[in-house]
Amino acid sequence: MRTSTQTLRDKIIQLLEANRVDIHSKYTYTKPAPKVYEQQWLWDSCFHAIVQRWIDPEMAKRELLTVVAHQVDNGTHTGMIPHMNYWDNAGSELWGIAHRSIITQPPIIACATLLVHEVGHDKKFLNAMYEPLAKYHRWLTSDRDPDGDNLVSIIHPWESGWDASQRWDRILKLNKPTDDDSKMERVKLVLALKTYDCDPNALEQQNYFSVEAIDFNNIRAADIESLAAIAKILGKDDDSMSWKSIAKKIQGAIHRKMVLENYYDLTSADEIPIRVNNAAKFISLFGGSISHREALELVKKLQSHVYWPHFGITTTPTSSDTFDPNRYWRGNVWPCVNWLIYKGLKRYHFDDVAKKLARNYIDLVLENGFWEYYNPLTGQGLGAKDCSWAALVLDLAIEENL
Ligand code: GLC
Repeated sequence: MRTSTQTLRDKIIQLLEANRVDIHSKYTYTKPAPKVYEQQWLWDSCFHAIVQRWIDPEMAKRELLTVVAHQVDNGTHTGMIPHMNYWDNAGSELWGIAHRSIITQPPIIACATLLVHEVGHDKKFLNAMYEPLAKYHRWLTSDRDPDGDNLVSIIHPWESGWDASQRWDRILKLNKPTDDDSKMERVKLVLALKTYDCDPNALEQQNYFSVEAIDFNNIRAADIESLAAIAKILGKDDDSMSWKSIAKKIQGAIHRKMVLENYYDLTSADEIPIRVNNAAKFISLFGGSISHREALELVKKLQSHVYWPHFGITTTPTSSDTFDPNRYWRGNVWPCVNWLIYKGLKRYHFDDVAKKLARNYIDLVLENGFWEYYNPLTGQGLGAKDCSWAALVLDLAIEENL
């Protein structure tokens, strides 16, 4: 292992250890960041497990088993994996339920499960995860695709993981909002979710937030491909074939409805493109929904100065009139987004570009430390300090042998 990777690894062992939460020795998870994010978040835990597989594979498995422990097991939303688990039962005030939220987050949990398995080869773990994962994806199909077009809808910006992005301003009827304005809208929206029992049809009809998001759907396609691979390892060949064909249908729908329309998110009600330029389009590489020729064009755009000013890929291009390098989700480098783009570049064999992105990100973390997100122009760390998902850098360092 190279010196920089060894240094990162040592620091990351300490970081993840300090952020670990133990629940009566039965469950365990890594909090995203001390003080600011003490609960368990779905996609964060998946990213933590992806890193933890290189350090302590048992812990990686336990984190994923913990994240599915509050999967909904009865009623209309059976199968949903909540975006937040409140192991201290503090969820009631916001959600009306003590131990979990009522929405989900980008489905990257089958990918995480497969990546963890690739290190430890533990079929017992895969077996334990298979049904929860299958149920989750069945729920997404039955509950979140009311028009049956193979693109699922998200019903709250929190479900995208990109909480305060400009992508959502118009749908939330916000015009150049302050951070407080948009936070208030997000909290208010939870009331509507409770009133309409998170029914995407009803929310759509009442003109609430309902969006077919390009990154969520691409991540879902890749997740189902991983689910197909898991089914195959477990000898469930028919399941595997059927998951594969679902993933293909999703990729086809993304291509037809989004890629050919300039890679925009769509409003769920009338499928009108939300014409806000942002980096979610690059996650089409991760989801495998584009041709090699389209990937070439996309990667050219990715390398342009407006998306890759210096310290990694920014969520909002620097040319946008609402670009703000210091404001939450409005023009920053996020570890999760950069990791997804890196993996997408590898998928389409843009190895040199991927290596450059990895190098960039490693230098950023070595220089500035572990932060929730970074200023793309200066590299300054922003948001929550000692943030666990910044540890994703180790996955890139190991893959690149840097
Ligand atoms: C913020 C991010 C979200 C993340 C959470 C915990 O809310 O926007 O994507 O899951 O923090 O880190």
